[in-house]
Amino acid sequence: MKLIRPHGGTLVNREVTGAERERLIESAADMPALRLGAREISDLEMIATGAYSPLEGFLDRSDYSAVCSNMRLANGVAWSIPVTLPLADEQAGAIRQFEDVALYQDDQLLGILHLADKYRYDKAREAELIYRTTDQAHPGVSTLYDQGDWLLGGKISLVNRSINPAFPKYRLDPSESRALFLERGWRRVVGFQTRNPVHRAHEYIQKCALEIADGLLLHPLVGETKADDVPADVRMQSYEAILAGYYPASRTILSIMPAAMRYAGPREAVFHALIRKNYGCSHFIVGRDHAGVGNYYGTYDAQHIFDQFEPEELGITPLFFDHTFYCRTCAAMASSKTCPHETSAHVTLSGTKVRELLSAGQLPPVEFSRPEVAQVLIDAQRAIS
Ligand code: ADX
Repeated sequence: MKLIRPHGGTLVNREVTGAERERLIESAADMPALRLGAREISDLEMIATGAYSPLEGFLDRSDYSAVCSNMRLANGVAWSIPVTLPLADEQAGAIRQFEDVALYQDDQLLGILHLADKYRYDKAREAELIYRTTDQAHPGVSTLYDQGDWLLGGKISLVNRSINPAFPKYRLDPSESRALFLERGWRRVVGFQTRNPVHRAHEYIQKCALEIADGLLLHPLVGETKADDVPADVRMQSYEAILAGYYPASRTILSIMPAAMRYAGPREAVFHALIRKNYGCSHFIVGRDHAGVGNYYGTYDAQHIFDQFEPEELGITPLFFDHTFYCRTCAAMASSKTCPHETSAHVTLSGTKVRELLSAGQLPPVEFSRPEVAQVLIDAQRAIS
């Protein structure tokens, strides 16, 4: 039995061990040092473990430019989000092209960048092409505008994993998730990306997808998110609260996706799909406004973007879902595609309304959220107020 092949054909492994690792650690003391932020730390790990295959490092200028303008790497392989290592002007003078740079998390050496390219870039252009806006109220655009004016490109070598990684028991590298799928005899595996606590609409689309697959990989993102998103630990607790009671253990795996959220909507949906392909998923769920924020993207833009690729360019099959909800007349979960009734029969709650209910200690309707999950959210709210 075979799983889907990694993107680009081979699972990248840039984690060095043994004598090579010792050699790099020793020589790192003489290299220029760069302290990484949270996003770069998670990107370094994603590259090293092959989650970003075929990337072997941070993008050089030709890949960067091709990804921005064409959603492909310079060699034509599909890739939709630039994975970059920014550098501020005041640090740029200290780092010369073609030397090795030591990458740190605080005082811990994580890896080495084999610098191949140091270049300036046009932030407004990147914002327009990747986020479809230059509005700095957009969280992805604001991060872009706040970062350094230079980018460093080149392959990386990982010598140490990050300090105190979050959710160690839910961490599976792509090689490990692939081994687990094979062990379970799964070939058709559907991946689910999320940055929110699980609600009934999520559960519905996950289970619809599982109907046509062998297994379900629940893969919440736990990297950096904007401040007003529900924190990652609450997101994970919401899954822990309902997994045992409502999901078949033999067909469900809960594991984390370490990367940071970009909020790039359509472009990020493709990125999220390619990442899950590397973890071994054959299918990937894309619902309403995937990876969206505010009103920057149309409800189904993140589905339409897949039409800009030939299916074999991506390899992984996207599963598209319309807006889903509980319908009182159907007496079931449904979507705008499958339900013929008036919206007055639909149980939909705005985020604001849900927050109001939760902060008053009230459970939202069971058609909207499982009470076990609502309780996790109420407890989380109490803990911070
Ligand atoms: S995201 O930023 O990770 O996309 P979220 O956790 O809300 O945000 O969504 C996870 C996945 O579920 C995405 O594919 C999204 O499109 C989908 N989704 C969320 N809510 C609904 C809904 N009510 N109907 C259909 N799809 C949904």
